[in-house]
Amino acid sequence: METELSKRLGVEHAIFGFTPFPAVAAAISRAGGFGVLGAVRYTAPGDLARDLDWMQEHTGGRPYGLDVVMPAGRAEGATEAEVEAMIPEGHRRFVEELLTAHGVPPLPEGEASGWRITGWMEHVARSQLDVASDYPIRLLANALGSPPADVVARAHDRGVLVAALAGSAAHARRHAEAGIDVVVAQGYEAGGHTGEIASMVLTPEVVDAVGPLPVLAAGGIGSGEQIAAGLALGAQGVWLGSIWLTTTEADLHSRALTAKLLAAGSGDTVRSRALTGKPARQLRTAWTDAWDEPGGPGALPMPLQGLLVAEAVSRIQKWETGPLLGTPVGQIVGRMTSERSVQQVFDDLTRGFERAVDRVQRIAGRSGS
Ligand SMILES: Cc1cc2nc3c(=O)[nH]c(=O)nc-3n(C[C@H](O)[C@H](O)[C@H](O)COP(=O)(O)O)c2cc1C
Repeated sequence: METELSKRLGVEHAIFGFTPFPAVAAAISRAGGFGVLGAVRYTAPGDLARDLDWMQEHTGGRPYGLDVVMPAGRAEGATEAEVEAMIPEGHRRFVEELLTAHGVPPLPEGEASGWRITGWMEHVARSQLDVASDYPIRLLANALGSPPADVVARAHDRGVLVAALAGSAAHARRHAEAGIDVVVAQGYEAGGHTGEIASMVLTPEVVDAVGPLPVLAAGGIGSGEQIAAGLALGAQGVWLGSIWLTTTEADLHSRALTAKLLAAGSGDTVRSRALTGKPARQLRTAWTDAWDEPGGPGALPMPLQGLLVAEAVSRIQKWETGPLLGTPVGQIVGRMTSERSVQQVFDDLTRGFERAVDRVQRIAGRSGS
């Protein structure tokens, strides 16, 4: 599964895997894809350095990338305490009442909230980039907008390709103007922050808008047949996020959450502002339902909502509170029905891709491979 971009990056398969887990990212690169480690949860530079050291030892010299979240111009320069102070009391009460209604105990004495979101603040993302500059990452991706010009220039100086996620052709054009090298066209079906245009429509629109810049198709891809579709629409590779959540290497810290993901159907997700303040696709839960209710206080803008709910999310995860337990995940969750290793996922993806190519070749009247 070779494209110009996969050759440029020196990977066997044009399959890019976004994941918050180093063990998954390393396994993706070892399997012949391109693992991209999500950095947003690393608020202490030492933790990121530790995990990048680990990646270095476990990628067998294969290339990998890093993903940061730099939402352009949001609460720039403000400290966490200053942002905290902007949260209305009524919202804090709403969270506490919701947790009480579901019997969620506080965190044990002395245990800090593990779910931090300050990685969405620009100065934190910049400290992550400082750490990353000591490692041979090959691609730097940004989730929410084009990275600032100095970040792009710094990456280019080091020979690092810069990618950015786009939910529309207009986003993609802005990325191209900002000097980005790779556009990830992420459709409505995707897990995490997402726009309103489905992948089938978005991918060719973005390819047309920014070509010959390479485009990766993202959102709703969990089989080799879907990879073939993305490539047929003009993408130079695919970018998968949800599918890795139920791999044996993933570290969700909750068997109950894994079980929920394995049982969920493609209709069990919702695009909600309940977690971060921006629309993000996630499992539909009593938590998302409560925030989306018309009588509720409504989610705060990013990064306030993330700060508001950080401890609550940790408590829900800690005590595995079934009805509230959720995670960002896309509609492809309906196909995530068993735990597999990353290598098994790759084997299934490449086999499915070959089947799809053979089928299309037969339909086109050409002999299969
Ligand atoms: C649990 C989870 C967390 C995510 N966090 C980020 C993130 O921090 N940065 C980012 O660029 N994309 C993030 N995404 C989106 C992925 O990069 C990717 O675009 C998306 O998962 C692709 O669609 P899919 O979920 O259908 O595979 C996340 C996705 C999931 C499922």
